[in-house]
Amino acid sequence: MEKKKAITLAFTGASGAPYGIRLLERLLAADYQVYLLISSAARVVLATEHDVKLPANPETAQKALISRLQCRPEQLIVCGKEDWFSPVASGSAAPKKMVICPCSAGSVAAIAHGMSDNLIERAADVVIKERGQLLLVVRETPFSTLHLENMLKLSKVGVTIMPAAPGFYHQPSSIDDLVDFMVARILDHLQIDQELVPRWGYDHR
Ligand SMILES: Cc1cc2nc3c(=O)[nH]c(=O)nc-3n(C[C@H](O)[C@H](O)[C@H](O)COP(=O)(O)O)c2cc1C
Repeated sequence: MEKKKAITLAFTGASGAPYGIRLLERLLAADYQVYLLISSAARVVLATEHDVKLPANPETAQKALISRLQCRPEQLIVCGKEDWFSPVASGSAAPKKMVICPCSAGSVAAIAHGMSDNLIERAADVVIKERGQLLLVVRETPFSTLHLENMLKLSKVGVTIMPAAPGFYHQPSSIDDLVDFMVARILDHLQIDQELVPRWGYDHR
């Protein structure tokens, strides 16, 4: 039997909710099964920056997102912050790929110190210990020395630090173009085909 393509995606409370929603849409379109983890602060940011108002209850949030994004119900699993029996909480079952997008400086700090105090931190810790692929789309400005030290620590154990810093060389004409730039780079790193933004050298205007 063919193994399902699965990935863990977490939204934390950094600015950049549109990146997270767009990435979720593209992962579902690429036929991934997505385990989605949403911090309390991420729900506040989503309601502030996007038209997505999610309830705190994971099952209700899951239903709302499945209906909004029109995906197959089995494709999207929203997990609660203390859902320790979720597959993402154990190296025996967790997907080997995880993206935190957007990723707050607070979550970076907790992950860099192996806190595992909520399911997002635990899932990240599992991916690191299992030597899977963890991408952190960090957003803060400026970065403090603490932020930089935490990111360096994570980079040294193989985590990809991908600041939410879109380029302008594709001549964006809208916010969607900037969002797509970041999402395209994330998909490239995950080795998922994307046609949002051409790769450098393939299509120059
Ligand atoms: C609208 C809004 C925007 C925020 N933007 C950022 C940000 O860009 N970067 C950051 O590190 N924290 C930001 N924060 C603060 C975090 O949400 C806060 O530190 C929170 O505790 C992070 O928790 P989490 O990592 O569990 O989501 C923002 C908060 C709000 C409400």
